[in-house]
Amino acid sequence: MKIVVVGTGYVGLVSGVCFSDFGHEVICVDKDQAKIDMLRGGKVPIFEPNLDTLMQSNMAAERLSFTDNLASALEGVDAVFIAVGTPTRRGDGHADLQYVFAAAEEIAKSLTGYAVIVTKSTVPVGTNREVEKVMRAAVPDLDFDVCSNPEFLREGAAIEDFMRPDRVVIGVETERAADVMHAIYRPLSLRDYPVLETDLETAELIKYAANAFLATKITFINEMAMLCEKVGGDIQMVAKGMGMDARIGNKFLQAGPGYGGSCFPKDTLALARIGQEHASPMRIVETVIEANERVKARMIDKILEMCDDNLRDKKIVVLGVTFKPNTDDMRDAPSLTIVPALIGRGAEVIVVDPQGQAEGEALLPHVKWIENPYRAVNNADAVVVLTEWNEFRGLNLKRIAKKMRSPRMADLRNVYNRQDVLDAGFEAYVPVGIG
Ligand code: UDX
Repeated sequence: MKIVVVGTGYVGLVSGVCFSDFGHEVICVDKDQAKIDMLRGGKVPIFEPNLDTLMQSNMAAERLSFTDNLASALEGVDAVFIAVGTPTRRGDGHADLQYVFAAAEEIAKSLTGYAVIVTKSTVPVGTNREVEKVMRAAVPDLDFDVCSNPEFLREGAAIEDFMRPDRVVIGVETERAADVMHAIYRPLSLRDYPVLETDLETAELIKYAANAFLATKITFINEMAMLCEKVGGDIQMVAKGMGMDARIGNKFLQAGPGYGGSCFPKDTLALARIGQEHASPMRIVETVIEANERVKARMIDKILEMCDDNLRDKKIVVLGVTFKPNTDDMRDAPSLTIVPALIGRGAEVIVVDPQGQAEGEALLPHVKWIENPYRAVNNADAVVVLTEWNEFRGLNLKRIAKKMRSPRMADLRNVYNRQDVLDAGFEAYVPVGIG
């Protein structure tokens, strides 16, 4: 199969690289010439484990290439994947589809033979039909089909998720389009990974339903964690006990400072909007969005309480600011709410993050970045574990406690054990959901 991927952001690049690894011929297209130059030089603009080596080996095998020229890339193509951004539109919470439609129109104008136009970007229900209309309006006699093929990639584990998916969803309307899509994903179906074929709207809904449900699961455990703190209970054991019920499952029940990232916040907002628009309110999702904000606010209170309700001139070391480990992504990270709140209350904040600085510098302008956690904690009044990078899981706590002015730890990811922290010389240990 010959595949063109439009947009070399996170989803586009991972998909393009993995499709080429399946043996397909892939051309990734982006308007950003600097990015294309970087990719041609074998460099990946984002941090994603193993993506660079997989990209380089497929480039060397001449299955993968990059260009800013869409028209030439489309020559003889079987499927064109639209993987451009769908950010939340300012003001109304809707997904902004201008880049999707602009890409669709441009593809229509350059297509020379039959191809399947696949939407990989997360888009509201009905968008694929809109894409079809935009393309027909641009070139009325064009021979093409549309397909919805949502992605379910976790940052930091995207290649693994692509190569060993729980399922692939393809929303199609014609047998011809279905045949092309099944051929593209044949390397997966051959190894018994399920490929679920549905209509367009159902495929679009599956993506939102899955992400909103996962965000709900996390928020549920986060609210339970707050209750555990009030009544005395251990959220880790509650999660374990709940998760042992096969109907519930043990995944995504890790209490923390609230969900963030490029998908859950944006997709829950968009689904709530879609519900309102169709007079079918998604009350649970609306509540989850609100509750997640409360969870983040509660983290600020916890740090404040631990520091005797006074952060003025206190030196606080924040370990991890990316929305989760193994990524440099700061989008909607809880740190973006929590860190400015600490600074606003007069604290001096020092940040340690293995990958977050490049993106984080502009977003967290008043913090100091230090690479080494042991240097960062000199004379500090509190340490806050905000993102559970492996680097922060096995710190020498005695060494840290000794260097601090007043050794206190807020462990917002529950990576440590209370007794170990206290035995190391800390005066206070504040986990999440352990009352
Ligand atoms: C998510 C989905 O998992 C993926 O399928 C989708 O298509 C894109 O969005 P991602 O945003 O990369 O992936 O990260 P994920 O691992 O799902 O975590 C999202 C957020 O939830 C993070 O802020 C994480 O810290 C938080 N989380 C996750 C918890 O707080 N507790 C958990 O148990 C799991």
